[in-house]
Amino acid sequence: MTTESPKKRRSQHWFGGTSKDNFIHRSWMKSEGLPDDSFDGRPVIGICNTWSELTPCNQHFRQIAERVKHGVLQAGGIAVEFPVSSLGETLMRPTAMLYRNLASMDVEEAIRAHPLDGVVLLAGCDKTTPATLMGAASVDLPTLVVSGGAMLNGNYRGEAIGSGTHVWKFSEAVNAGKMTLPQFMQAESCMSRSAGVCMTMGTASTMASMVEALGVSLPTNAAIPAVDSRRLELAQRSGRMIVDMVERDMRLSQVLTREAFENAIRVCGAIGGSTNAVIHLIAIAGRMGVPLSLDDWDRLGKDIPTIVNLMPSGEYLMEDFYYAGGLPVVMKRLLEAGLLHGDAITVNNRTQAQNVEHAECFNDKVIRPLNQPLVEQGGLAILRGNLAPQGAVIKPSAATAKLLQHRGRAVVFENIEHYKERIMEPDLDIDENCVMVLKNCGPKGYPGMAEVGNMGLPPKLLQKGITDMVRISDARMSGTAYGTVVLHVAPEAAAGGTLALVQDGDEIELDVAGRGLHLHVSDEELARRRAAWVPPPEPASGYVRMYHRHVLQADQGADMDFLVGCRGAAVPRDSH
Ligand code: FES
Ligand code: MG
Repeated sequence: MTTESPKKRRSQHWFGGTSKDNFIHRSWMKSEGLPDDSFDGRPVIGICNTWSELTPCNQHFRQIAERVKHGVLQAGGIAVEFPVSSLGETLMRPTAMLYRNLASMDVEEAIRAHPLDGVVLLAGCDKTTPATLMGAASVDLPTLVVSGGAMLNGNYRGEAIGSGTHVWKFSEAVNAGKMTLPQFMQAESCMSRSAGVCMTMGTASTMASMVEALGVSLPTNAAIPAVDSRRLELAQRSGRMIVDMVERDMRLSQVLTREAFENAIRVCGAIGGSTNAVIHLIAIAGRMGVPLSLDDWDRLGKDIPTIVNLMPSGEYLMEDFYYAGGLPVVMKRLLEAGLLHGDAITVNNRTQAQNVEHAECFNDKVIRPLNQPLVEQGGLAILRGNLAPQGAVIKPSAATAKLLQHRGRAVVFENIEHYKERIMEPDLDIDENCVMVLKNCGPKGYPGMAEVGNMGLPPKLLQKGITDMVRISDARMSGTAYGTVVLHVAPEAAAGGTLALVQDGDEIELDVAGRGLHLHVSDEELARRRAAWVPPPEPASGYVRMYHRHVLQADQGADMDFLVGCRGAAVPRDSH
């Protein structure tokens, strides 16, 4: 790596000289039709696009990219769109999360290797937001995010239905004999009606809200529907703004500060955001070198009321959220209550307080006043105990209140196949007071930490009218899901955590108010079981082997150990 002179724009190291390498860099770009003066030192903006037809949520990103380009050109920059790995929740197996870190490497290396002065990240479906931000944070150029927006509200037989949330509801209704299979299949096309991400407050809309709360997008980015013209307008203004950011030399690290992450955690509580945000924000902070831990989530999020009444915790959907005023209203309400850092700077060079000053609420049922919350204490709770010495996560707003304090007998599933096989057994010894325990679904275990933590209840209990039970695992759950579900148990079973040692019939105690998760088995007995435990085999080769060796546990963001940190934007050696 060579060090760059402070005055010379980064792209000029490629385009600004008379050497044979400069000839190569310019000549081949000219083949795209660029005039000579494109290389005179104006900002070169990369549009990092996660478009893919295998990621239906991001299917409209080429149109969004066009509007960003218009904005960049209007402001006197040069725009170059480039593809990076896309990550679609619905098709990728064993789980898109297995590839989040891989995609982040792609983003980081693509940015650093190219003549870019600033970057616009186009992100939508769940993992594309953390993957692009993690990669960009490890480079630290001027960067802003344009999110894809949510799809239109689902509508089935006149009823509003929510992405994901109603998949779980309908599939339980089928298992309980309350919905026919033809009806179930008819609902498919009623749920996903346009481009855009899930329109519940699932992980994608949570992460788009985190982006806005962190200040790395223009205001209103989170809630504008995918197919609303205002999103194209926002994309165009974002294109202008990134050129301005390059001129101001406002790097990502000036925006992604400790205060910004504290704001994001509080906003996550207020929107009833996804448990996945815990892992992703810790991973992004890790890349930026900002200290952030599980305890921050509990401490900062604990007393935040959930005021956004969206599924899965509430009743409405993302379109309703936008029409009610969107995230600026939420942030204004938190600010007025002294719950946010109003002076946190954002990409438009204005503070959060300035950005939301004129926000107005148009529907108090969708965005409730702070004194009439949906849930009093909406933040995510971090649990600890001998079953999760490094922590576990539960979303109380999505749980059944009376189960938040519960002691019951464990029914253990050794892995997801064991669960699928055993749960259908009519003579399975289980009742509604039992605690369902699923092992080997964490980062190393699945591999990739799949969203299987909200395992469906036994059909025989569903038929009895039981709708919730305590479930514990080292897995994640979809942000669109709900239930009394303890997730992200660390260390995971496949890494030899206590979870691996739980047996059928053990007593487990969940105490959300006291933040406890305890396995009532003596230390001597646990030591005996530990001595007999055999770790699962390591994958033989390929990416999965690297991932397995290097992935960190959930409490550290499930990044890979060698990717943590910022490696900067120094200009690499010439290529020829
Ligand atoms: Fe893409 Fe939900 S599946 S956002
Ligand atoms: Mg998901």
